[in-house]
Amino acid sequence: MSITDRKKDHVRLCLDDQSAYKKSTGFEAWDLKHNALPEIDFNQVNPSAKLLGRTFGFPLFISSMTGGYSEAGAVNAVIASFCEKNNLPFGVGSQRVMLEKPEEESSFSLVRKYAPTAFIAANIGGSQLAEGLSDTRLRLLADSIRADAIIVHLNPLQELMQPEGDLTFAGILKAVESLVRRTDLPVIVKETGAGISGAVALRLYDAGVKVIDVAGAGGTSWSKVENLRTNTRSSLFDEWGIPTAVCLKEIDALNLPDLEMIASGGIRNVLDMVKAICLGAGFTATAQPVIQAIVEGGEDSLQNLYDGWYRDLCIAMCLLGASSVEDLKPSMLRLVKDN
Ligand SMILES: Cc1cc2nc3c(=O)[nH]c(=O)nc-3n(C[C@H](O)[C@H](O)[C@H](O)COP(=O)(O)O)c2cc1C
Repeated sequence: MSITDRKKDHVRLCLDDQSAYKKSTGFEAWDLKHNALPEIDFNQVNPSAKLLGRTFGFPLFISSMTGGYSEAGAVNAVIASFCEKNNLPFGVGSQRVMLEKPEEESSFSLVRKYAPTAFIAANIGGSQLAEGLSDTRLRLLADSIRADAIIVHLNPLQELMQPEGDLTFAGILKAVESLVRRTDLPVIVKETGAGISGAVALRLYDAGVKVIDVAGAGGTSWSKVENLRTNTRSSLFDEWGIPTAVCLKEIDALNLPDLEMIASGGIRNVLDMVKAICLGAGFTATAQPVIQAIVEGGEDSLQNLYDGWYRDLCIAMCLLGASSVEDLKPSMLRLVKDN
């Protein structure tokens, strides 16, 4: 199957309930402590947040999803226009297809037509990086969208579940370290839903990575997506992965100076966002709810979803007595069960 057809199938299958983990993110282990005396007025609540030195309207990154075929271009245009209007950062989907089919560039590059000033991240797989990505090709990917950052995605689970998967995993860390040295752009490393542990985060940090998106388990399961697509691999790995809350706790406990942590993987509402930030993330990200809203009703649906989340975050912050995102602290969480 061509990479283009595969990417189309991914969008379709991620809308199926069966592609979600049964395993939870782990956020239900905490309750948020109601503050009956918040001592802030609702209109003082400001949900803006910083990432990589830039201030955004809301602590939500629209995770990398698509590109590489014409309908993907339409999805990217909606995400770009929405992010431009609401001052949110986003990532395009894997640009690997551009390396194989340069004619597919337009489904990525059109984002700058709809988002001339938004923060946009390029995206490439760790395996492609380890196989060797020349400076010229790297520049081609980044320049096509005038990228503000480069995301490297780690997805060994997904590749191992794909009949046509790329099984080059040796050398990825070294390739990431070299990428950090040879580009002026910030490098963000993310998983795709199976999570980054504290131990892996430490190796990435030692390699020079200063932004990690944990993309933990509890949301989209890429083992399930691939099994729904081809039914050629064992379902034994469908629940494989580290819950998002566990990733956050492990990485936060390392106290790595200047590390920015993005919480993603199963972020499905504002309470997940707030708990993730209280657990040490500076920013959150989500993928599946965004593609679902776009498929259901285009940009209007996505804007409705966002407006609801915006209102909910302001309410949650007020009920916790937090006028800014930086005010969200671990002390606002109460452990209700061990995870
Ligand atoms: C349709 C779809 C396509 C995706 N494609 C990519 C991709 O090309 N590159 C990438 O880094 N992650 C990709 N992802 C993974 C997401 O960025 C995210 O890490 C993962 O889905 C977990 O987040 P969620 O539980 O909010 O969906 C994709 C996700 C979806 C739903």
